[in-house]
Amino acid sequence: MLVSGTPYRTIWLHEESVRIIDQRRLPWSFEVVDLHTVAEVAEAIRDMAVRGAGLIGATAGYGMWLAAREASTPEELRTLAESLICTRPTAVNLSWAVHRQLEAIQETGFGDRVANARLTAEAIADEDAAACAAIGRHGLEIIRDIASRKPGQVVNILTHCNAGWLAFVDHGSATAPIYAAHAAGIPIHVWVDETRPRNQGARLTAWELAQQGVPHTVIADNTGGHLMQHGQVDLVITGADRVTRSGDVANKIGTYLKALAATDNGVPFYVALPSSTFDWTLRNGVKGIPIEQRGAEEVAQMEGVTASGSVETVRILSPGSPAANYAFDVTPARLVTGLITERGVCPATEEAICSLHPQASSAI
Ligand code: MRU
Repeated sequence: MLVSGTPYRTIWLHEESVRIIDQRRLPWSFEVVDLHTVAEVAEAIRDMAVRGAGLIGATAGYGMWLAAREASTPEELRTLAESLICTRPTAVNLSWAVHRQLEAIQETGFGDRVANARLTAEAIADEDAAACAAIGRHGLEIIRDIASRKPGQVVNILTHCNAGWLAFVDHGSATAPIYAAHAAGIPIHVWVDETRPRNQGARLTAWELAQQGVPHTVIADNTGGHLMQHGQVDLVITGADRVTRSGDVANKIGTYLKALAATDNGVPFYVALPSSTFDWTLRNGVKGIPIEQRGAEEVAQMEGVTASGSVETVRILSPGSPAANYAFDVTPARLVTGLITERGVCPATEEAICSLHPQASSAI
């Protein structure tokens, strides 16, 4: 997607290293960083220099190319793979990408591991970008349908966190239909949840939408229900970090509350995801999906920019108050209107999901 008019992906190979956009610096500065070792890749994922399910998977894919270069035995390769998998627990794309790399290396033999891992890493990234583009085409029809029922009026879409191109390799999942609708000339406006504690909505989604010229408004996290009660939200689209075979959705903390409000107000609630985000081994998301808990300081502090342009962190809690930081929650399938995947749109039911994805039948 465009940054100041120049097309970018979120990750690419640069000489013998992996180049990323450091998302901890956005929106105040656009900086790229080169990762040279598996340890640097693991730290970039853990500290959220890269984040978002699809991009975490693509980064782990490239990390395995570095692992193939660092490892001199299959055992060392497995240890390095494990060091990537344990960085963040909820987004299943991470372990999916690492296991895909391990299987590919096993198939062609350890001797060919470096060239093979490079090809697989590029394939994972290219497929992620292609899947998001297809999600955009399928999701566009949902927005077009809503637009046709309110001719001449703006379609208001609410999104949570950042499931934009910054969370993938390109296009994004939740944002792909939004960008497609904007490109098709459908008048749209996006309500962007700020998404405490790390403010991925306010910092990343709003920045992305502004770069692409999409009209949007940032709202405090608890605003969505009020807007829905007053007819100001036509559609909710979020991304996902892991979706079970029966359609339960793990996504950024607060997604569940938006789904409850949407259901109560008759607002369609769609989740957009590539098939690498399905966990075919799980049915019950509330019981089965591991929910990451991050450091309390992310809740206790906020980062911002001063009038003079320097980025500063301030504490917003009194010293005596502890904080808890649950990074994700699970929205049960019954609250999801539909899933927008690269293979089409389907209801969030096991039957519909598995009929779009025949590979699911052998996984459980
Ligand atoms: O903690 P993050 O920023 O990695 O979480 C991102 C989200 O929850 C996104 O909404 C999600 O990854 C879905 S889109 C890839």
